[in-house]
Amino acid sequence: MAFFRFVSFALAVFFLSQSLALADDLKLPPPKTEGGVGIFEALKKRSSVAGGDFSPAELSNEELSTILWAASGLNRGEQGWTVPMAMGRPPYCKIYVAAKDGVWLYDWANHALKEVSKDNVKALVGSQAFVRRASHILIIVSDPLGLSTFSDPATQDEFAFVLTGAMTQNVYLAATGLNLGARYIHDMRIPEIVSSLKLGPGEKPICLMLVGK
Ligand SMILES: Cc1cc2nc3c(=O)[nH]c(=O)nc-3n(C[C@H](O)[C@H](O)[C@H](O)COP(=O)(O)O)c2cc1C
Repeated sequence: MAFFRFVSFALAVFFLSQSLALADDLKLPPPKTEGGVGIFEALKKRSSVAGGDFSPAELSNEELSTILWAASGLNRGEQGWTVPMAMGRPPYCKIYVAAKDGVWLYDWANHALKEVSKDNVKALVGSQAFVRRASHILIIVSDPLGLSTFSDPATQDEFAFVLTGAMTQNVYLAATGLNLGARYIHDMRIPEIVSSLKLGPGEKPICLMLVGK
């Protein structure tokens, strides 16, 4: 009897740990890499959605997958990305995703999302009231570890800003291709971002990128 109780307990612990592991990591579906509008049409149409114009509709996981892949996904095996990186280094800016069901960190190597928290922080991160209306808010944060390969702080800032520009322009173009709205936002609440994303020393929020319908 004691043996069966032990086996039931061990199985319960096993299945609980499996379900917790699944809750922490979300493998994204493959991104869209074909079709859609051509690059020149996307350039012709690229614009920022007016702040208040996001509908309550949510992005699908497929749409989110394509947006994140466009922002800094692998496009040539294990060492090539959709955005240019200084000296071909791996992405030295991180992308956090704030959605209604929590905060996630984009793991470009596995094209997956790692859970940071289950909190809806969309109303906290921007200074403008409309920011919370976007289905998903990408929060781009400089990664001091990745940037430490570059010698001086001015170069590190420059490279992080250049990368952020490339990432956000790719998001604008991918959003145009998917018929989604996007808007770059500088006006952020830094202390709230630092605490809700659990940022470490030297991790600096650079901008928000709103994406929605
Ligand atoms: C560096 C930068 C900072 C911006 N900051 C904000 C912002 O804090 N709030 C906002 O509503 N829009 C912001 N925007 C969006 C611009 O207002 C928008 O891009 C501009 O009005 C031009 O419109 P377009 O993107 O449709 O061409 C920012 C854009 C850039 C490039």
